[in-house]
Amino acid sequence: MSQTIAKKVPAQRFGEQYKGFRTELLEAVDKVCASGQFILGEEVRLFEEEYAKWLGAAYAAGVGNGTDAIVLALLALGIGPGDEVIAPSHTYFATGNAIVKTGAKLVLADIDLETYNIDPARIEKRITKKTKAIVPVHLYGQPCRMDQIVPLAKKHNLFLVEDCAQAHGTKFEGRSVGTFGEFGCFSFFPTKNLGAYGDAGIVVTSDEKLLQEVRILRNQGMTKRYHHDKLGFNSRLDTLQAAILRVKLRKYMAGALETRRKRALAYTEMIARAGLGQVKVPFEDPRGHHTYHQYVIRVEKRDELLKHLGDAGVECYIYYPFPLHLTRALEFSGYRQGDFPNSEKAAAETFALPIYPELTDADQEYVVEKISEFYAR
Ligand SMILES: Cc1ncc(COP(=O)(O)O)c(C=O)c1O
Repeated sequence: MSQTIAKKVPAQRFGEQYKGFRTELLEAVDKVCASGQFILGEEVRLFEEEYAKWLGAAYAAGVGNGTDAIVLALLALGIGPGDEVIAPSHTYFATGNAIVKTGAKLVLADIDLETYNIDPARIEKRITKKTKAIVPVHLYGQPCRMDQIVPLAKKHNLFLVEDCAQAHGTKFEGRSVGTFGEFGCFSFFPTKNLGAYGDAGIVVTSDEKLLQEVRILRNQGMTKRYHHDKLGFNSRLDTLQAAILRVKLRKYMAGALETRRKRALAYTEMIARAGLGQVKVPFEDPRGHHTYHQYVIRVEKRDELLKHLGDAGVECYIYYPFPLHLTRALEFSGYRQGDFPNSEKAAAETFALPIYPELTDADQEYVVEKISEFYAR
């Protein structure tokens, strides 16, 4: 009989989070339900405006999810069959899937093991005459080295479409990620730092023409009612989700990001204080502002430590156990084991500790105590 282990430190505490804005959220949902405006309309328009302002972007267009945000951004730039798009081999599957969905060739580059983000030096080696765009991913909320990536894109005349799914409010040299290139693509998947209560996403841009293109593509390629000028998609930001996100942006987001960072830095300090030199903690770039969507550590004997923590009721996950080049659905890309050693190492040696604003001091002390216990055995 399998034994059920009580979750002493779960991966999320959504119920706790909800308490902080429940009344306002229910009022917002009620307003939408009473209005009968369930598709696009005022709530979506206002959320787009408010999110763009919060981020420091000129324009935003709400879409169905973060994956579609990348697909629509690339299509709006005219990317398709015959083109090549460069992305990191260590990321969530959606980054690669979105690129392939446009018809372009997915060209992978290895990461640097300090940030777990795409290594700018390796991007340059992958550029060919067919390269049209780079899709850097600000993984775990850690900003990519935009001081190197932006000049590289300019030098080779490439579009920059930032995958910011995990990086709401992340900054590099004081500027929000998502505003460095043609498009920033964000996800509001429920576990994200700004999470909806279902699927949702958004693109931001400073180019009004590109914004209009995404607005057309997200809505069946329609320029005017029943004028379908393009083969678009049905990928609008849901109106109920927009209303929920407006409340969360206003009532939750600023404080939540700050507390999340405080909790992350507390882990780093506690791990150092416990003398756990075996644990490689996340890199804090002095030029960046890491928003810690995940607090990812790197250790040898990862699976044993993960099991030890799991047995003690600490819910931890691996992000991600397979790099894109070793993912079955992308086998046709022709990559092999050994092609991207840093990504393979990250997949074998990293995992995330529970991190969210609702975590307590006692939770964190317990987690670090259990890690210490593992190494003391
Ligand atoms: C790095 C990355 N890219 C893209 C996505 C896709 O977002 P969504 O799940 O909203 O489609 C996600 C999140 O799931 C992600 O973590």
